[in-house]
Amino acid sequence: VGQHIALTPPMGWNSWNSFACNVTAEDIKSTADQLIKTGLAEYGWTYINIDDCWMKVPDVEHMEAKEKALLEPYYKANVDFRIKTKKVRFNEQELIGDTRDTGGNILSNKDFPDMKLLTDYLHKYGFKAGLYTSPGPLTCQRYEGSYKHEYADAKQFAEWGFDYLKYDWCGYRAVVSEPSLEEVQHPYRLMGQALKDVDRDIVYSLCQYGMKEVWKWGASIGGNVWRTTGDIRDNWESMSRIGFNQAGLESYAGPGHWNDPDMLVVGYVGWSKNLRPTYLSPNEQYTHISLWSLLAAPLLIGCDLTRLDDFTYGLLSNAEVIAVNQDILGKQASRIINENNIQVWAKPLSDGSMAVGVFNLGETPVNYQLSLASLDLPGKHTLRDIWKQEDMGNIETSFSVRINRHGVKLFKIK
Ligand code: DGJ
Repeated sequence: VGQHIALTPPMGWNSWNSFACNVTAEDIKSTADQLIKTGLAEYGWTYINIDDCWMKVPDVEHMEAKEKALLEPYYKANVDFRIKTKKVRFNEQELIGDTRDTGGNILSNKDFPDMKLLTDYLHKYGFKAGLYTSPGPLTCQRYEGSYKHEYADAKQFAEWGFDYLKYDWCGYRAVVSEPSLEEVQHPYRLMGQALKDVDRDIVYSLCQYGMKEVWKWGASIGGNVWRTTGDIRDNWESMSRIGFNQAGLESYAGPGHWNDPDMLVVGYVGWSKNLRPTYLSPNEQYTHISLWSLLAAPLLIGCDLTRLDDFTYGLLSNAEVIAVNQDILGKQASRIINENNIQVWAKPLSDGSMAVGVFNLGETPVNYQLSLASLDLPGKHTLRDIWKQEDMGNIETSFSVRINRHGVKLFKIK
């Protein structure tokens, strides 16, 4: 158990970018239904992951009253909000209780009334089920975390039938605010061991935003994927900064253990309430999907699939692009060229060919001459445009491409 999972980057959907704290079991089921209805399931979008906020208390009003009473003295003292919530978070005995039974077992609740029934539903249609918790006493959104309940929770999640666990650091800031390497590793080791001890393959996602160069030790403590950065937002600045900053991390990725530059911000997103189309332009969205595919990154859709439009469907259903991401060799692309707003990234594929992305980070379209020597590919080759799924004929020495502002051309060179 645990040895042969995530051999290619996990692909699927996560609730955070569209449902945030409003997520319910019904949303999860309708996401599964949509993946089937639209045909996306056929392309490999498999994991359906519940993010923060599922562990709601049965009686929310009661809980809020309790929290308010705890926070009141700090409000009155007018201390910095972060500091006062930190202090309150330590007072776990008062906050916990409603979400766990007397034995400390985490409970389902009115929005997720029957977890086993839900995972059975997902499994019946060929999906895998993902869940979320934090090593802290509370999660990032101040719901029940797994602090001091790690083994019981891992066992419960396995019994419920989950196949993926995202373990999100920020609730742990209440326990240690400026952690050493050892202190960052400790809670992840603990849950890693707990997951190893249950009789179920559970993909382990270390969500701690790249602290202490997690890529160097994430695999050794049982992690299958680890976030390399803070949260992505759906704008060019955020997506391009995160994506193009992955250069240099390629040696840490491989079958079973992947760098995770965060979720896909395409389609209708908006963190729960104001769902709207992504702020990325169409060219930027091609860049986003091309880059994440070259990076062998986990591909987790974040949008509301009940509002899937044709453009987003096209982005997410190009089998040749997905094949670059899912290639069994499991190599993450390296950056070969970085000059004058042009970046060239290359990913060796299992059939001996090379996937190559030529990106234009500049503000105007450019014509670019790419030499095969710079890719270390001397001699004659064939060129295929991956997005168009079109052969471009033979090439020798070099070839020229036109790339839109913030756009990309993705090729297979054979
Ligand atoms: C921070 C993580 O990075 C996000 O992906 C999301 O899980 C939120 N926390 C939820 O609170």
